[in-house]
Amino acid sequence: MKKIYVTGADGMLGSALVPLFSTAYDVRGTDLPEFDITDSEAIKKDITSYSPDIVIHLASMTDVDRCESDPVTARRINSDGTENVAIACADCDATMIYISTGMIYNGHKPGPYIEYDTPDPVNKYGLTKYEGELAVRKHLKSFYIFNTCWIFGGGPEDKKFVAKIIELGRERDRLEVVDDTFGSPTYTVDLSSALFDFLGNDELGARYGRYHCAGRGCVNRLELAREIFAITGIEKCELIPVSSGKFELPAPRPRMEALSNYALDLLGLHLMRDWREALRDYITSTFI
Ligand SMILES: NC(=O)c1ccc[n+]([C@@H]2O[C@H](COP(=O)([O-])OP(=O)(O)OC[C@H]3O[C@@H](n4cnc5c(N)ncnc54)[C@H](OP(=O)(O)O)[C@@H]3O)[C@@H](O)[C@H]2O)c1
Repeated sequence: MKKIYVTGADGMLGSALVPLFSTAYDVRGTDLPEFDITDSEAIKKDITSYSPDIVIHLASMTDVDRCESDPVTARRINSDGTENVAIACADCDATMIYISTGMIYNGHKPGPYIEYDTPDPVNKYGLTKYEGELAVRKHLKSFYIFNTCWIFGGGPEDKKFVAKIIELGRERDRLEVVDDTFGSPTYTVDLSSALFDFLGNDELGARYGRYHCAGRGCVNRLELAREIFAITGIEKCELIPVSSGKFELPAPRPRMEALSNYALDLLGLHLMRDWREALRDYITSTFI
């Protein structure tokens, strides 16, 4: 059985990914506080002594505003921490999978980004994740970088956009939601299955490189909230469109974060479904 090492295993994506991969691989999932990717010696020792075939690197500082107000820690975790993992992979000949973000782009494009667009991050989270991508490329030949976007999932523990909108929609008569930032909502279960199918596809060979892997489609936050209300049956709360300028946040947000899975499509790998279908599955299995 092939061995897979997963960093950030207890996070939102890891919680869906680890159980799925455990059905076909020997999986070692690690996370804070025991395993800190910023401790270069300890993480190298732990990864190399497990000697995995593949390392899936999910550990990250994902709070975009915290990254902006504490860029030193963001760089330590997202850039240097990723480099530590890449060096460990090089030491034990493991293939590395790094999950990056659509926030590596500046958001000026009118529609979804493809892999050939030029990274130009506008905030510290995007910058440090992009530096992580460069570190992976610097140390490894056998790597896959998957950029994804607006992940949802997490089940009963969910405290992110979907759960918040449902909670507020059930409590309030009106809710302001921004209508000028766009993304591709991505279900943890779908992304995990896509990675599982991709890695299990022996016919693919070693097509290393960077791929976008996000839910199909492009939507703004207001439309996403409308869909959440429609699926959940929330009718009494009025959704009010507002511009993102109304909410002062430490980190600037790119207007466009949506991703087209262009490179996967070129390979004939249509691994992700429409975000609406995935959202319906998530909400009906978790909130209704
Ligand atoms: N969420 C999104 O919308 C989104 C979009 C695009 C890309 N991504 C990327 O997808 C990956 C998974 O995201 P996610 O939403 O599952 O994030 P998450 O829920 O925040 O999970 C990340 C995990 O990494 C852990 N971690 C943080 N610092 C660490 C360190 N120094 N050493 C070891 N572990 C550490 C976190 O622990 P603590 O919770 O204790 O800090 C957490 O368990 C990340 O790389 C993220 O950048 C996410």
